[in-house]
Amino acid sequence: MQLFKTDNAAQREAGIAAAIAALGRGRLVAIPTETVYGLAADATNGRAVAGIYTAKGRPRFNPLIAHVADLAEAREHGDFDPTALKLAEAFWPGPLTLVVPRRAGSGISDLATAGLDSVGLRVPAEPTTRALLARHGRPLAAPSANRSGHVSPTRAGDVVADLGASVDVVLDAGPCRVGIELTIVACLDGHMRLLRPGGIARGAIEAAADRAFDAAPAPHGGEAPMAPGMLASHYAPRAMLRLDATVIAPGEAYLGFAGARPEAIEKARAVYDLSARGDLAEAAANLFHALRLLDASGAATIAVAPIPAEGLGEAILDRLGRAAAQRPDVAC
Ligand code: TXA
Ligand code: MG
Repeated sequence: MQLFKTDNAAQREAGIAAAIAALGRGRLVAIPTETVYGLAADATNGRAVAGIYTAKGRPRFNPLIAHVADLAEAREHGDFDPTALKLAEAFWPGPLTLVVPRRAGSGISDLATAGLDSVGLRVPAEPTTRALLARHGRPLAAPSANRSGHVSPTRAGDVVADLGASVDVVLDAGPCRVGIELTIVACLDGHMRLLRPGGIARGAIEAAADRAFDAAPAPHGGEAPMAPGMLASHYAPRAMLRLDATVIAPGEAYLGFAGARPEAIEKARAVYDLSARGDLAEAAANLFHALRLLDASGAATIAVAPIPAEGLGEAILDRLGRAAAQRPDVAC
C-alpha cells in the first residue's frame, strides 16, 4: 500500500498517477470525498467491483454509488428528468447522490448496480478526487472505505486501520469536510424521493427542485436504509430459482459454478457457468448478467449449482436467496 498526502503538490500528482495505474490493474484505491473516504474500483470492471465486496466483508451486494467527474459524464450513465437536472445543477459538485434510470449502454457493471435498472451517481467536490475522476475518464464505484459494520472513515488513518491490506493506494486529503454520508435522492418515474438523509438538508433540496418529496417507498434509517430488496425496481428474475441443484429437470436453465456438471445437464434450456475455475470474485462479477441471460431463455426455473458459502460466496448466496424469494407473484 502506498499513501500520498495531497497537500503536497508533487505527492498529489504522484498519488493520482499511482491511483490511475492501480485502477487500471483492477485494484482498489481509497479516495477522499467531502463526506467520507471511499473504497474505489473502476465501476466498469466487474471483477474489480467484486473486490470491493470482498475487502469490506459485505454479506450482501448493496448497489454502489458511481462517482463521476461532472454532469456530462453522469448523463452518459443515467437519464436525468427535469427534477434530477435541477438538483444536479444546484448541488454538484457536492454531497448529493442522484438515483436515476440507468442508461442502456452505460458501461457500469451489473455488480455495481446490484442488477437494478437504476444507478446512483455522484460528483464529489473534493479536488484531488475530482482531478482523479477527470483523468481516469471512467466512473468509480465506491462505498465508504470501512469494513462492513464499522463506522465510516473520515480520515486516511481510519482507512489504513480498517482496509490498509486491501488497497494499493490511499490518497490522504486530511479530515473530510462534511464527515457524514451524503444525501441520496431518487428521481425515478416522475417521483422525487429521499432515500437517505445526509450532507444536504431536505428543505434545501425541496427548494432547489421547487417541489416537495414524494413519500419514500419504505421506512428507513441506519446503515442500510435502502436495501436493494426494498426497492420496487429491484431486479428479480421472472424464473423461479432452485438452489443446490445436482440434477436438471427438462427445460430448466442451469446456473453453474466451477465447471460442475449436474445429472441431465444436456436437458438444460440454457447453461451459464459463473466461473469455470471456481473463482468467487469472477462469479460475483458475472452473477447479475447470468441471471438476465438465463431468464431470457424463457425457462420457468433456473437450477443453481451448489456455491460455497465462504468469502464472496456468502454474498452470492444471499443475493440468490433474495432473488428466489422475490418472484413477482410471491413478493408483495
Ligand atoms: O458519502 C457517502 O455516501 C460515501 C462516499 C464514498 O460516496 N458512500 C457510501 O456508500 O457511504 P455506501 O455504499 O455506504 O452507501 C450507498 C447507499 C446505499 O445505501 C445504497 O443502497 C444506495 O446508496 N444506493 C446506491 N445506488 C442505489 C440505487 N440504484 N438505488 C437505491 N439505492 C442506491
Ligand atoms: Mg457505508
